[in-house]
Amino acid sequence: MIVAIDGPSGAGKSTVAKAVAKSLGFSCLDTGAMYRAVAWLAVERGVPVDDDAALGELARGCRISFGHEEGEPVPKEVFVDGADVTRAIRTAAIDKAVSPVSAAPSVREAMVAQQQRIGASGDYVVEGRDIGTCVFPDAAVKVFLTASDEERAHRRVRQNVDRGVGSIDYAEVLADLVRRDQADSTRATSPLRAAEDAVRLDSTGRYIEDIIAEICGLALAARDAGAR
Ligand code: DC
Repeated sequence: MIVAIDGPSGAGKSTVAKAVAKSLGFSCLDTGAMYRAVAWLAVERGVPVDDDAALGELARGCRISFGHEEGEPVPKEVFVDGADVTRAIRTAAIDKAVSPVSAAPSVREAMVAQQQRIGASGDYVVEGRDIGTCVFPDAAVKVFLTASDEERAHRRVRQNVDRGVGSIDYAEVLADLVRRDQADSTRATSPLRAAEDAVRLDSTGRYIEDIIAEICGLALAARDAGAR
């Protein structure tokens, strides 16, 4: 079964997706990390972030994998061609490079194919921007998670403090979130938007535990109704 969680940056998707996966015993796929890994590779190799053909070659040729602890459904590490990029993909430089890289049609084509292959291998909670609309349009559960710009920026700063990587300047983080939402929502290929049949949840001012419980309830109801 696929539980798709889409929404803008900082809406709480990662926290929610991990907790829902743990609670349901599903694996968890962070598709944003895959676009970040390609962006990291482009920066490393000096590939211009607006060169669709070169980016496509990079995306098709690289191997993105996730490191799990024994028996843990939620991955702890991200590797690209064997290099551990878990922290390197969270820097402010990659925050900037990932918008144009993820807008490249050839990159999206390569990533969507990988994501569909991974998702077909078991029960997954998949978080991203186009999961319910494009990657898994037949997902049993589709959630579109949002929150106010200010709350999202506060959460992202706290997350960056916890991770010890990325900007912790509120104004900078807020400006970057707004810029990325704009870029993600207006790009030609698979823009960020809610699927028509997605359940819209606004996490502003709500306990994250409530949101997690609500999504687990949707998944269990879907299973009871026969979804696989
Ligand atoms: O979720 P995130 O902030 O780590 O995502 C990084 C970037 O990747 C974000 O700017 C949008 C893009 N992205 C995308 O275009 N499609 C996805 N399914 C997931 C992320």
